[in-house]
Amino acid sequence: MKKISLTGIKPTGELHIGNYFGAIKPALELTNEYDARYFIADYHGLNTMKDPKELEFTTRHVAAGWLAAGLDPQKVIFYKQSSIPEVFELTVMLLAFTSKGLMNRAHAYKDAVQKNIDKCEDTDAQINMGLFTYPVLMAADIILFDSDVVPVGQDQKQHIEMAQDIAQSVNANYGQQVLKVPQPVIQENVAVVPGLDGRKMSKSYGNVIPLFAPEKTLHKTIKRITTNSQSVEEPKDPDSSQIYQLYKLFADENEQASLANRYREGGMGWGEAKEELFRVVNRRLTPIRERYDIIMSDIPLLEKTLQHGTQKAREIASITIGRFRKIAGVL
Ligand code: ADP
Ligand code: TRP
Repeated sequence: MKKISLTGIKPTGELHIGNYFGAIKPALELTNEYDARYFIADYHGLNTMKDPKELEFTTRHVAAGWLAAGLDPQKVIFYKQSSIPEVFELTVMLLAFTSKGLMNRAHAYKDAVQKNIDKCEDTDAQINMGLFTYPVLMAADIILFDSDVVPVGQDQKQHIEMAQDIAQSVNANYGQQVLKVPQPVIQENVAVVPGLDGRKMSKSYGNVIPLFAPEKTLHKTIKRITTNSQSVEEPKDPDSSQIYQLYKLFADENEQASLANRYREGGMGWGEAKEELFRVVNRRLTPIRERYDIIMSDIPLLEKTLQHGTQKAREIASITIGRFRKIAGVL
């Protein structure tokens, strides 16, 4: 039997190439070797997204993003988190095995506390319980499907370790393996994708290259990449330039070597380097963007695809929940 790989993406904004290289592509690469379960974590999104139209749109956007990037719904169980009531039942059961202290130590929670302190806001009033218990819902997402591996970015490692802790306290309490303990798969070779300003590409920094932007917008966005004041003639160091870091993700080895040489020789300005980058990015993203547009033009079909995945997911989920309830004496 193949091992199980599971991951989810929160629908909290427009997908960007950091999400593609850091989360979507590595997860899709595991789908031959593993039985994959991939989903849209819309209830995780609700913590911060209170506009219904926006949440509905971004949930579909992320679903279409997975499919446009190559997810095959015949091969991968693909669903929305909110369609699986067993996730919430398991969350309640896991809450009973989770210490408040564990949640106090979560990086995301601690960052939110610090931000509120910096703004002189009342932390307890500003932080909702969805954010505080976020790692428990995430543990339920993972544990419900007997997941062996969870492909995620480095920033999610602590959440997976918390899922391990929670599963282990359940198992220790009953003296048997009720729940499978998952392992994170962090793609070490996927470096952090840099954004337009050289910091990590992130929607919270407003420095992203959107995955599905129309060609013109893509071109304009790439032209906004910040550069230093070196003149056209000056030789340049490819490794310290985010244009070149991004170029490496999209270009083949010959192209990479040739652009690196041109940097080192001098005589190429930043404007020209950006045009080279645009050419390779657009070449790679055009087919993905075209598939995305087709998928988003038929929402009923997209919903049908997700419903099909939901049915398969719930069959598996009911087995785990049944097993846990029986052992816990909740009949
Ligand atoms: P954002 O930082 O834009 O809010 P998310 O936190 O929603 O992105 O990230 C979703 C997934 O994409 C996570 O698995 C995360 O590790 C990955 N990811 C996000 N930004 C990058 C990046 N710049 N480089 C590599 N992976 C990234
Ligand atoms: N917390 C993850 C993120 O912010 C999204 C997520 C929710 C997830 N549930 C999950 C990832 C389960 C892996 C497994 O990126």
